[in-house]
Amino acid sequence: MADQADPSPIITIERHILDEQTFHPEATGTLTNILYDLALAGKVIASKTARAGLAEILGLTGDINIQGEKVMKLDRFADLTITRLTDHTGRLAGLASEENAAFMPIPDKYPMGKYLLVFDPLDGSSNVDFNMPVGTIFGIYRRVKESGPVDESEFFQPGRNLVAAGYIAYGTSTMFVYTAGHGVHGFTLDPSVGEFLLSHPNIAIPKAKYFSVNLGYQLYWSLGVQRYTEYLQGHESDIKGLSLRYIGTLVSDFHRNLLAGGVFYYPADSKDPKARTGKLRLLYEAAPLAFIAEQAGGYASDGRGPILDITPDSLHQRTPLFIGNRDLVMKVEDFIRGLDD
Ligand code: AHG
Repeated sequence: MADQADPSPIITIERHILDEQTFHPEATGTLTNILYDLALAGKVIASKTARAGLAEILGLTGDINIQGEKVMKLDRFADLTITRLTDHTGRLAGLASEENAAFMPIPDKYPMGKYLLVFDPLDGSSNVDFNMPVGTIFGIYRRVKESGPVDESEFFQPGRNLVAAGYIAYGTSTMFVYTAGHGVHGFTLDPSVGEFLLSHPNIAIPKAKYFSVNLGYQLYWSLGVQRYTEYLQGHESDIKGLSLRYIGTLVSDFHRNLLAGGVFYYPADSKDPKARTGKLRLLYEAAPLAFIAEQAGGYASDGRGPILDITPDSLHQRTPLFIGNRDLVMKVEDFIRGLDD
């Protein structure tokens, strides 16, 4: 008879990441510790996002809080939290954040490591004021040079070189989802014990249910993307029309589609000069999520080929993004090839 006092197995994120390390007998534990540092950063950011509305109440003018300190914007807070929890550990050689124009080499006073961290500290931050979900996205690369100061060019690696990637979703609960190349695993923060616990092992994208796109921009899309959208809606297609869901926070839209099946896209459009090549950033958003998508059996494309094969030539390079179920993402490549090229 089962012992009623014996709890069911609880797998903490620390234990899971350590177990994954056994796939790499040569591992020193450095990557394991970077992931654990990021999980800690996620807890700190989650506790702050949960108080987002209160910052305004506590700040008399909106800029100065009751202690006389400046109320920091949440995306700046998230950026500093991640930087301060990772810059001194001797595990990283440099960090590049969507928040900052230049990358940050590890300060001289700290030891230098062999990994590079790229991250979007608070994706969807414009949603914060409306109590909607936001997220953090990260990717970890090995540095290119053996030693010496980090060059910006070391960050210009295709997503195929990613060693690990993940995101933290700050929603109704806080989730940490990551891959180190052996499947995608999700952990939910249990606030009562302050720990991420394995809740979604070996995530695989199921049959598509949703499509997610800002339909408000449809007029500005290429013919291929417009026809693709009609295809997803079930016009003259071999699929039943999908249901539309769009939050406007990439992490949340991606996370839902990863668990429920579906495709998210943010195509190039002609309304905004910056968006002609798409709005989303290759290094901080598209490539890490593309790695996760492929590990979950999905696929990510810029409409013409795999996101993971694109080598960036600048830190903040933008890209169109189509990501989700493999068959649906490959379908947009057919439409674009046939109608736009
Ligand atoms: P931001 O972090 O500036 O709020 O941008 C969010 C990004 C991404 O998370 C989301 O998918 C997309 O922008 C939404 O853009 P639109 O508002 O143009 O649909």
